[in-house]
Amino acid sequence: MTSADEKIVTLGRSPVDRLNRPLRDLRISVMDRCNFRCPYCMPRERFHEHYPFLKTAERLSFEEIIRLTRLFVPLGVRKLRITGGEPLLRVNLPDLVADLNSIPGVEDIALTTNGVLLAKYASELKAAGLARVTVSLDSLNQDRFALMNGGFGRVSEVLEGIEHAQAAGLGPLKVNAVIQRGVNDGDVIDLVEHFRGTGVTVRFIEYMDVGNRNDWREQLVVPSRDLMQAIHARWPLRVVKPEHAGEVARRYAFTDGQGEVGFISSVTQPFCGACSRARLSSDGSLYTCLFAQTGKDLRGPLRAGATDEELDELIRGVWSQREDRYSEQRAVLRARADVTPKVEMNYIGG
Ligand code: GTP
Ligand code: 5AD
Ligand code: SF4
Ligand code: SF4
Repeated sequence: MTSADEKIVTLGRSPVDRLNRPLRDLRISVMDRCNFRCPYCMPRERFHEHYPFLKTAERLSFEEIIRLTRLFVPLGVRKLRITGGEPLLRVNLPDLVADLNSIPGVEDIALTTNGVLLAKYASELKAAGLARVTVSLDSLNQDRFALMNGGFGRVSEVLEGIEHAQAAGLGPLKVNAVIQRGVNDGDVIDLVEHFRGTGVTVRFIEYMDVGNRNDWREQLVVPSRDLMQAIHARWPLRVVKPEHAGEVARRYAFTDGQGEVGFISSVTQPFCGACSRARLSSDGSLYTCLFAQTGKDLRGPLRAGATDEELDELIRGVWSQREDRYSEQRAVLRARADVTPKVEMNYIGG
C-alpha cells in the first residue's frame, strides 16, 4: 500500500462532519433518572413521581455500551464522559468504568455528577480507572442550592463528595455552576472564594435553553463577560490558552497563582465551530447536538443482530451528515423548536 492509500484509509476510519469537524468525544448517558429536580433541567412539576422514566430493559446494558464504544473509538473518539440524569444511580457503575477503561484507544474517562453519592463511590470509581470528576454545584448557600435543585440533598454532602473525589485522585476536579439571573448570580463570588486555592476549578455555565421544559428566557442569562469582570475586580485574572481545540470552557488563571476559573458561554459566545461531541442517550440513540430534535436509534439494530460493520456504517453515516450548530443559530432554531421538540437533557446528559 502506498502512503497515499494509507492516508485514504485513515481518513476513511475517522469521518468529519459537513462542517469539517472530527468526532473526538463521546458523552454516554447511563441513567435518565436523577435524585435532584433542578428546575432548569428536570422541573419537579413535569418530572413527577408518575413520569415514565425508562424501564431497565429499555436502557442500554453495559455490554451494549461497551460494544458501541468500541465502535466509536476507530471513528476518532478519545474522550469519554459518563453522564445522566445522575450516573451514580446506575447500579454497578464502577464495573462499566473498568470495562470502558480496557478499550484500547480510550485516553480519558470523566464523570459528571451532582455529587451527593460521590463520597460513597469515589475510591471505587478511581480503582476502576475513572480519571476525573466534574461536580454540579450552583450555590454554597443551602437555601439557594435547594432552590436550584428542586429541594433535594445538602450542600455539605456535595462538598464531602468533592473532598472524597480529590482524596481519591479524581482530579483535576471541576465544579460546574449554572447561573440564573435573580436566582444565584449573587453566589458567584462565594463559590470562587471557597474553591480558590483548593485545586478545584469552578466553571460558570450560562443558562441554556436545553430541552423543552425549563421556560428559558434570554433575560435569565448572565453573560460570562459580566461574571468574569466581577471576579477579575476582586482577584485579578489572566487568560489561559486552550489546551486543545474544541474546549468548551474559556479559562482564566488567578494572577496570584491560586488556580483557575472557567466560563461556558454557549449563549453569548457559542463554540459550535469546533464541536466534536457525540451523545449516546440512555436508551441507545445517537445525538449529534445537545439541542438536537432527533437521534439515530442504535439500540434497535444492535438488538436485532446488526454486525459491527453495519453499526460502524450507521454511526459513520450519522456523523458525516452532521451539520448542527444550534448555539450559533439559536434565534432562528428556537422558532422551529416550538414545532418539533428538542431532546430532554436527562436523556443525554449535559
Ligand atoms: P472537560 O473539558 O473534558 O473537563 O469537559 P467538558 O467541559 O467538555 O464537559 P462538561 O461536562 O464539564 O461540560 C460542562 C457543561 O458545558 C455541560 O454540562 C453543558 O452544560 C455544557 N456543554 C458541554 N458540551 C456542550 C456542547 O457541546 N454544547 C453546549 N451548548 N454546551 C455544552
Ligand atoms: N443550562 C445550562 N446548564 C445546564 N445543565 C443542566 N441544565 C442546564 C441548562 N438549562 C448543566 C448542569 C450540569 C450539567 C450536566 O449540565 O448544571 O452541570
Ligand atoms: Fe439532575 Fe444534573 Fe439535571 Fe440537576 S442538572 S436534575 S442534577 S441531571
Ligand atoms: Fe455542539 Fe450543538 Fe453545543 Fe453547538 S450547540 S457546541 S453543535 S452540542
